Amino acid sequence: MNNFLKTHTLLKTFFSVILAAYTTSLNAQTEQAEEPMSLRTVMEKLGHDMEAVTGAISKEDWALIAELAPKISHHAEPPMLEKVQILTWLGSDAGEFRSFDMQVQEAATEMGEAAKQADGQRVIEAFSKTQQSCLACHQNFRQPFVKRFYGER
Ligand code: HEC
Repeated sequence: MNNFLKTHTLLKTFFSVILAAYTTSLNAQTEQAEEPMSLRTVMEKLGHDMEAVTGAISKEDWALIAELAPKISHHAEPPMLEKVQILTWLGSDAGEFRSFDMQVQEAATEMGEAAKQADGQRVIEAFSKTQQSCLACHQNFRQPFVKRFYGER
């Protein structure tokens, strides 16, 4: 009985610590609302890498494109907490959002393969497909995303 009580008290302490930590992190999150989301940094990097590809196409620098393509297809992801926030917001649209990302991944992979074979025509076609997939996600999600997480526009 004594043991049971001890366990019970321990559990109570344990849960109040968890609850306090959770509340603190929630508060921190609310305060950070004005800070840019990590996804924005990921996107800026994607934008730079795509620009670099354009430059490399003009120079027919296929080796550079072969280096850049995996950075686009396997771009960084936001940290877990932000991912959960985004997925929660997306709800049933999560599948569509993810499928645009898969399209980018496939097209950029194809671009890298074509670059390895110095096949300029195929590189350009895959580049175009990649850019179309960026656009498709932006047209569907960018504005509502900015509105939800930054409260603008
Ligand atoms: C799955 C959806 C999705 C895909 C695919 C996607 N983006 Fe984005 N992108 C977003 C969202 C959402 C934002 C708005 C983020 C924000 O403002 O914080 C954004 C914003 C951006 C921005 C603006 C960042 C800024 O500083 O305001 C750039 C640049 C960008 N994306 C580039 C790209 C490029 C290049 C690709 C393709 C290689 C791409 N994105 C693919 C969802 C996507």
